[in-house]
Amino acid sequence: MTLKTATGSAAALPKTKAGKGLWAWLNKRMPIQEFIAEQLTGYYAPKNFNIWYFFGSLALVVLVLQLVTGIFLTMFYKPGEATAFDSVQFIMREVDWGWLIRYLHSTGASFFFIVVYLHMFRALLYGSYRAPRELLWLIGMAVYLALMAEAFMGYVLPWGNMSFWGAQVIINLFGTIPGIGPELVLWIRGDYGIADATLNRFFSLHVAAMPLVLLLLVMLHLVALRRTGSNNPDGIEIKAKLGADGKPLDGIPFHPYYTVKDFVGIGVMLVVLALVVFFEPTFGGLFLESPNFEPANPVSTPADITPVWYFTPYYAMLRAVPDQRLGALLLLLAVLSFLFLPWLDRSPVKSMRYRGWISRTALAIFVVAFVGLGYLGLQPALPVYVMSARVLAVLYFAFFYLMPIYTRLDPVKPVPERVVYHAH
Ligand code: HEM
Repeated sequence: MTLKTATGSAAALPKTKAGKGLWAWLNKRMPIQEFIAEQLTGYYAPKNFNIWYFFGSLALVVLVLQLVTGIFLTMFYKPGEATAFDSVQFIMREVDWGWLIRYLHSTGASFFFIVVYLHMFRALLYGSYRAPRELLWLIGMAVYLALMAEAFMGYVLPWGNMSFWGAQVIINLFGTIPGIGPELVLWIRGDYGIADATLNRFFSLHVAAMPLVLLLLVMLHLVALRRTGSNNPDGIEIKAKLGADGKPLDGIPFHPYYTVKDFVGIGVMLVVLALVVFFEPTFGGLFLESPNFEPANPVSTPADITPVWYFTPYYAMLRAVPDQRLGALLLLLAVLSFLFLPWLDRSPVKSMRYRGWISRTALAIFVVAFVGLGYLGLQPALPVYVMSARVLAVLYFAFFYLMPIYTRLDPVKPVPERVVYHAH
């Protein structure tokens, strides 16, 4: 089929076997078919993915959920000290289906972190952060940091009492930076206290700047993934063993095999999400904290200022140190330590399947420390909790900084040539 341009001459467009009609018309103008052939049906992923490999696509789904529900919330939310809290009440009580949109967004935020933490844990389990995927891991960490900033600013918007006091605590942390600290805090707030100016800039950053940054970073994350290809539970590079057709022997086309499989995961997640949204949207005060059902009050501090659960492991470390400046530094180091993993890990094998008892025990202790710190960060700052947080913080950092030693001493098992796959 020859295509005519507006002037009637044959178009100098690439030839495509993309069928007839509209599909052919579109493909002559945009490489949709090529994209599908290269990125989906022609993209070979390891055949031994297990449930840990659901969480990347689940994170994408939650990202879309947050963008869509966020757009609808923005139609009715009114930033400003005098209007923010009431506009959220209006959304909950008066706007048609407003309660559903808001609960989907607030529950979606917690689900985002659940999914991302499990996604990151998978990388620890199978050594996915190691060469050649260091950049993929670093971009992932940038996504994680952007997600934390996005969640923090979003939490301030309802202008509840925990929004106000949470913002107070977190913004004051910047004040501990030597020299520029106090000026920086003033600059971030835009006022001498947490005020209208702070709320308005957080609104702008939350609905426009950070979603763009997140989208860009996620795109880069996927581009980097395409270069190296996915790791797998055996930690074996499938590109090392190619068949006569040049395709990895242990790979299967992403589409239809993993698109279909991912839909199963998405279905399960949406059922769990619906159960929370419809039956327990506050999740016992973990997803929506009770002080946030009262308007912001600069003269009344909530009994305990605690952030939402996904920040509490770091918050527990901040409170474990009496000196605020050192506490802030420890918090920063706790988050940034993940960045160094590709270079701290010296094991000759990637996956935990073939690592010895030392690496396995270290990872188990790390998980206990992280979850334990998360629990302690939700408790009041009583001495017993603070002491426990100190012990767990030591274990947390030991996981990272003793890694160059224990991964070398670890009695590893031989790694097979090909991935292990049991047909169902
Ligand atoms: C919005 C958040 C994120 C999205 C949408 C996302 C998306 C994805 C997707 C779709 C994949 C391929 C499927 C899979 O392996 O599950 C993937 C792989 C990967 N992601 Fe993410 N990701 C996000 C955050 C992160 C974070 C925070 C990290 C780590 C700091 C990370 C590290 C990785 C690694 C190492 C892989 C390769 C894993 C392997 O092949 O074994 N990602 N990501």
